[in-house]
Amino acid sequence: MTRGVDLKRHPASPNQQNCLSMADKPRKMEVNVIRIADDIVNMNEYNQKFDIPDELLSSVVHFSQDSIIITTRELDPPGPQILYVNPGFTRMTGYQPEEVLGKTPKILQGPNTDQSVLHRLRRTLDAQEVFFGQAINYRKDGSEFWNEWHIEPILDDKGELTHYVAIQRDITERKKNEQAIEQKNMALREILEQIEIEKARIKEGVVMNVEEVLIPALKKMRRKGTKLDKKYIDILEQNLKDLTSSFGIRVSEDHFKLSPREVEIANLIKNGVSSKEIVGMLNISFKTVETHRNRIRKKLGLVSKDINLTTYLQSL
Ligand SMILES: Cc1cc2nc3c(=O)[nH]c(=O)nc-3n(C[C@H](O)[C@H](O)[C@H](O)COP(=O)(O)O)c2cc1C
Repeated sequence: MTRGVDLKRHPASPNQQNCLSMADKPRKMEVNVIRIADDIVNMNEYNQKFDIPDELLSSVVHFSQDSIIITTRELDPPGPQILYVNPGFTRMTGYQPEEVLGKTPKILQGPNTDQSVLHRLRRTLDAQEVFFGQAINYRKDGSEFWNEWHIEPILDDKGELTHYVAIQRDITERKKNEQAIEQKNMALREILEQIEIEKARIKEGVVMNVEEVLIPALKKMRRKGTKLDKKYIDILEQNLKDLTSSFGIRVSEDHFKLSPREVEIANLIKNGVSSKEIVGMLNISFKTVETHRNRIRKKLGLVSKDINLTTYLQSL
């Protein structure tokens, strides 16, 4: 909330109605005294000391690239009345000053304007606080744009609210860029998810091959092999177990007594694959996945224990 210095609005020139101009000498009108912040009071003293004319300060409002509007303080219907708009407002909205003076900024709203932003705006202004927000607004030609604006309540010397000043900016391009980045991020997240699923599938294949083909084959070879062969087989078996345990659960450990299907599912769970994804990957029903999950929990001794299965499998 701000209070302070006089901001003077100049009388309208024929083709620049309602614009602040350095050429025009400031004249008092009913609505031409707006109070800005205490810190600006100090700044005004500072400006006076350095002899900065009011016209020069007023020209800042006029030449601002941003849209600036000043309204009355009434928020209840029909709402705050627009007393002043700068050329930036016309550039942003397509409305000439004479088309909006006396009307409410609500003329900028439409079907896609986020009502929750407007409710927050109302609550903020009722509390005489500064509002910052963004919403979709509509130009005179009906086209949509993203408006980012900031409203400052203006108080007089007695602390009474007199007006509101808003500075608005068309941020449509920024929003488009943000949306494009968000879409790219989503696409990237999907690709990463697919890579994770693919990785889990490959790991699963390796684990299954090692556990179901290589290790049993090595066991057979050990029975027939020489002492030296057995030594090599032990090393080979240990290496294979190390390899699979680095990304799969140690399926060869007999005490779990998991069936091959359960091992397969346990490895997918361990790799962060969701039940829904398992359904798609193994082409089985969700109910079947859940049954396997419950059996795995039972065999791992996790029934009625508040332990997350994924975390537990990862700890193995
Ligand atoms: C100074 C000022 C500027 C405003 N500028 C905008 C604006 O650019 N876009 C907009 O959608 N609403 C703007 N509003 C908000 C509406 O005028 C209105 O206050 C808001 O929709 C809440 O009104 P309601 O409680 O009747 O819905 C502005 C309000 C004030 C006081």
